[in-house]
Amino acid sequence: MPRYIGLDLGTTYTRIWTPDEGVILRCPSAAAIDGQTRKLVALGAEARKMLGKTPQDILASRPVREGMVSEFDVAASMVHAMFLNKRLCSTFNRPVVLMATPYSMDQVQQFGLENTVIEAGARAVAQVPAVFAAAAGAGLHVASPRGCMVLNIGGGLSESAAISLGGILAGRSIKVAGERFDAAIMNYLKQKRNLVVGASTAEELRVRVGVCDNSLDRGSMTVYGRNARTGLASRQEVFSSEICEAITPAIVAISRNAMSLLEDVSPMIASDIHRYGIMLTGGCAAMPGMDLAIHRETGLRVTLADRPRDCVIYGVGRILKTPELWGTRLDYRIK
Ligand SMILES: Nc1ncnc2c1ncn2[C@@H]1O[C@H](COP(=O)(O)OP(=O)(O)OP(=O)(O)O)[C@@H](O)[C@H]1O
Ligand SMILES: [Mg+2]
Repeated sequence: MPRYIGLDLGTTYTRIWTPDEGVILRCPSAAAIDGQTRKLVALGAEARKMLGKTPQDILASRPVREGMVSEFDVAASMVHAMFLNKRLCSTFNRPVVLMATPYSMDQVQQFGLENTVIEAGARAVAQVPAVFAAAAGAGLHVASPRGCMVLNIGGGLSESAAISLGGILAGRSIKVAGERFDAAIMNYLKQKRNLVVGASTAEELRVRVGVCDNSLDRGSMTVYGRNARTGLASRQEVFSSEICEAITPAIVAISRNAMSLLEDVSPMIASDIHRYGIMLTGGCAAMPGMDLAIHRETGLRVTLADRPRDCVIYGVGRILKTPELWGTRLDYRIK
């Protein structure tokens, strides 16, 4: 009997689910590799700290960019090491993997990803759209004829879908999420404060004091950076209202992209969505005021999922336990 596991290989985090233990791994999607031997030298949080600081013979990278695998060999080594660490794969027992993948992924990318996970140690791979898994993981009745809408805001992608009867009726994907929020913060501080900071400082600001709606206030944080004019070190206090101002255009873009899917659904489904609103999932859904901001921009009722960060991987687990949720589309290609 093969072992079935769930995998969410995200831009920021990789998560693994098993039937016995649920979510057994939440690890930053990063790896460091010895340039000569191609062996893995660091994984996850440890490799993430090494980004941009490694000597020439070590390559630290994040193999998933904007939801898509950009470095297939690094991704395979990273997932292989995760499988080994969690004792999920050995020569004689390789798992069958159900993977959450971006809605916007084309067949070539799906094929590349499947091979990457096979190379990492899987026996077979099946894929399910992450946005569908997010809806299932948030507890929506995805198999019912009542239309529902989900918006998953992750690290690299924001994806939305209208769902009914176990399938996606219309979906949208935009490369605006956590990383673009950080880029917007860096840009804002440079323009308005002459302050140049790195992406990790921008992310820390967003996570520690960031808000998505003006009605909230989380105080301020002192940051260290470089003065854009003089080039000298600079220390400044940044306020939560500034983070809100910096990321609002990105939230408007996400909301418009999501709302445009209503053009592609029937009036009955549109009416269900207007009545029941949007389920909000993903790591960035957890930002204070994100539900308020999405409500403001879309005019729809917005429900923040319980544990929004884990909805995709919970949904993958739910589909593995109840494959009918995703219709008969699960096709385990045994290699
Ligand atoms: N408490 C929090 N406050 C603010 N941001 C958060 C918080 N927790 C997580 N995030 C952000 O959520 C993002 C990661 O979300 P998630 O794990 O859903 O993404 P992912 O699945 O790795 O990426 P993607 O689905 O886009 O490929 C990161 O940008 C992270 O900074
Ligand atoms: Mg994700």
